[in-house]
This record gives sequence, structure tokens and C-alpha cells, in this order.
Amino acid sequence: MGRHDRIAELANLSPSDTGEPLQVADLGSGYGRMTRTLLAAADGPVRLHAVDAASSLDDDVLHDERVRSVIADLDDPLPFQDASLDRVVSVNVAEHLADPRAHVTDCHRVLRPGGLLVLAHSDWDTTLFAGSDDTLTRVLVDRFVATVPRWAQRADGFMGRKLLGLAGAAPFEIIDVDTWADCHRRFDEDSVGWKVARGVLAATADDEVLRARAEDWVASLHRLAEQGRFLFTVTDVAVVLRRL
Ligand SMILES: C[S@@+](CC[C@H](N)C(=O)[O-])C[C@H]1O[C@@H](n2cnc3c(N)ncnc32)[C@H](O)[C@@H]1O
Repeated sequence: MGRHDRIAELANLSPSDTGEPLQVADLGSGYGRMTRTLLAAADGPVRLHAVDAASSLDDDVLHDERVRSVIADLDDPLPFQDASLDRVVSVNVAEHLADPRAHVTDCHRVLRPGGLLVLAHSDWDTTLFAGSDDTLTRVLVDRFVATVPRWAQRADGFMGRKLLGLAGAAPFEIIDVDTWADCHRRFDEDSVGWKVARGVLAATADDEVLRARAEDWVASLHRLAEQGRFLFTVTDVAVVLRRL
């Protein structure tokens, strides 16, 4: 089961007692991978509010009549009425926000009593690449974790392990805490390992010597992939909270 399927399962999208569509927000929806998985996991009618700073949903998600695309800055109060949502899902977003605790508090505000918040995040510092030079891999992963990507204002490569600490920001009951290794054997374009490797190259751009070593390292990962020996994992953390 992939990470988005696991997270959708944790969101428990069983039909509402009233028969009304379940009101679900996917915060930081990006291209809509989580949104698409939530739609597939819903057992009954659902209204999915996909919120992001820009409109970048894939066409199949954007044109799904159950989806409402919402453009909003998640550093501002969420664009929902108090107690109006049944589920809020926030995946790999908290690290980019100015105040992750305020994010959790505002998720509490917009949830109905009994509603669920699913916070999930990769913990990038746990990134594992199989390879022949473990020392270099460690140096490069440290660089990657310490660098804010160009498209973001901020990042925190340790956010996964901090999620449970954020749960105390508002009166929530902790329903479930889960972690797993998100394992990938592919190193082709758009695979997670490939995106992290690109992040490593970007993070070494200001250091000519390290950048050259990073390029050799990426080439060695491609060779491993050709031999079927590529392995990438990162630890995911998910916390399920119920609004009291
Ligand atoms: C790493 S992506 C996660 C995408 C998706 N949740 C997933 O896991 O597949 C982070 C998303 O958060 C969005 N984001 C980051 N900061 C934001 C902000 N302040 N307001 C709105 N969206 C933001 C980015 O635009 C991006 O689409």
C-alpha cells in the first residue's frame, strides 16, 4: 500500500450519519495526488476542498464534480467556517508554514466536534539511499535537509518527528499515531528518490567541490537503478486527531 493510500485509510471516510456529503479539506493539495486517493477511498458522497497557494491540480482531479479547488495562503486563517468540516488532511505541508502550531489550532476550529484531522509528514532527515559511499550520502542528505527549496519560503526536514508534539496545540484526542518507511525502487523522473536527488544537487550548488561529488553520486544511483539495485526510503509519520 502506498503512503497516500495509508493516509486515506487513516482518514476513515465512511459516509456521514445524515447522508449529507462528507466535507473534507485536503490542505496543500499540490497536483492532487492525496485528493485523488481520498476520492477513491470515500465510501459515500463527499465534497473535497483542495486548498493550495496556486491552482496546480491535475485535470482529472480538477474536473471531478466532487472537488472544489480553493486558492488560499495556509499561513492565513483557513477559508472555512467554524465547525464546518468532517475531515481535514494535511500532508507534507507543515514544514513550509510559518507557524505549524497555529495551523493545527485552525484545523481544530474548522472541524466539527468528532471530526478528524490527519497530519502526515515525511521526516526527510531519515532519508536512506543504498550506495557505495555511506559517508558522502550522509553529508549530502544533511545538506539537503538544511536547505530550503527554491519554491518554498521555509522547510523543516525534521517535521515528521515533530507532528505528535503539534497535537497539543488544540483540544484534540489522539486517535492513532503511525510511522512507516516509504520505500521506492524506482529512480526515474518524478520518483520520490529522484526528486530528493535533485534537491541534493540544488543544495550543493554553492559548493563547487561538493557539487561535483554530488553529480557523481547521482550518476552512481542511476547505475544502481539500471542494475535493479536502487533503494530509497524515508520515514513517514501520521497522526490522527479527533476534535473533542
Ligand atoms: C510537498 S507538497 C505536498 C502535496 C500533497 N499534500 C502531497 O502530499 O502529495 C506541499 C504543498 O503545500 C503547498 N503550500 C506550501 N506552503 C503553502 C502556503 N503557505 N499556502 C498554501 N499552500 C502552501 C505547496 O504549494 C505544495 O503544493
